[in-house]
Amino acid sequence: MTIQDFIPKAYTTVVESGSVTWESPSNIALVKYWGKKEHQIPANPSISFTLSGCKTKTTLSYSKKETSDDFSFDVFLDGEHKDSFKPKIETFFKRVEVYVPFVKDYHFKIETENTFPHSSGIASSASGMSALALCLMSIEMKLSDVIQSPSTPLRTGSTERVFNDDYFNQKASFLARLGSGSACRSIEGDIVGWGLHKDITGSSDLYGVKYPFEVHESFKNYQDTILLVDKGEKQVSSTVGHGLMHNHPFAEQRFDQAHKNLSMLINVFKEGNLDEFIKIVESEALTLHAMMMTSLPYFILMKPNTLEIINKIWAYRETSDSKLCFTLDAGANVHLLYPEKETEKVLEFIKNELVAHCQNGHYICDQIGFGARLIIN
Ligand code: PMV
Repeated sequence: MTIQDFIPKAYTTVVESGSVTWESPSNIALVKYWGKKEHQIPANPSISFTLSGCKTKTTLSYSKKETSDDFSFDVFLDGEHKDSFKPKIETFFKRVEVYVPFVKDYHFKIETENTFPHSSGIASSASGMSALALCLMSIEMKLSDVIQSPSTPLRTGSTERVFNDDYFNQKASFLARLGSGSACRSIEGDIVGWGLHKDITGSSDLYGVKYPFEVHESFKNYQDTILLVDKGEKQVSSTVGHGLMHNHPFAEQRFDQAHKNLSMLINVFKEGNLDEFIKIVESEALTLHAMMMTSLPYFILMKPNTLEIINKIWAYRETSDSKLCFTLDAGANVHLLYPEKETEKVLEFIKNELVAHCQNGHYICDQIGFGARLIIN
């Protein structure tokens, strides 16, 4: 697929108004995306577990306007006007306009809610932008005279393009990427890769692809418990963060390392080698933070409690045969990843040793999930 494939031909149907609802999850990267080129093209490939419980539900209501000269929309979070979201959504609409040209034809009401608390330090951009992108795709499907749900492979009638699940998901992921890079990994599950990689069939810089190879039983229902160390606003925005990789002294080595780690993960997934999994995932998390500490300007996004937790995880592994490991986002919270069969023991360990390092003792239990869901069409 190329960018041209996502530019639609003239729409065949007129739709005056309607409403669509999608629910889309967050995801947690194992190999991290950090650094981008123009147009949200990643500097290196990444791979993530799609989450299950941490998600955004978005209803997009649309009604045809008299003129198509500008964007027109209102945003609500949990039923309340949220004007602070408008600039990001306006930027998104500007970026996607060429691919979904109907965005200027309608007035939109965007109603959104997250299952996780807004001030939890968990970014809602991946789940939020993917949910919005999926809503736009449902509208495009209606305008293209395709009425069935996207789970039914269909032809638009065009001899050139098949408007089936694959196209729907790829274009939704493509649009989501233009909202927030990592959002393109939230459309499907349970493991999604994004960014061209020589060993991953079908991989692309333009959209996320469901991991195409064998995955060992050990990764089934893999758990992710998110320890909320710092619920404050992000200290470094994503845009600024990715920008730090321009002229970064270690950028090329880092991008190269991401490619190598992804290659190694393929075998790890196949063989269920959890010791190797731990090494790759923890090294990726620390490298992400090392990149931030060695850029100009430099940042430390970990908090003392982040380090306390990491040290306790390492001590726990020393004294048990546990395969518990951690990963980090661009913030202080810690994601604990572990096999389902360890759930009881790990939760006990969290309660006894780690809760003390969480802000207000808060943590969120989640697990690997299977992607976005159409709620109402
Ligand atoms: O999608 P963005 O632009 O918010 O960037 C996300 C970057 C990390 O979360 C730090 C890593 C990743 O791959 O998700």
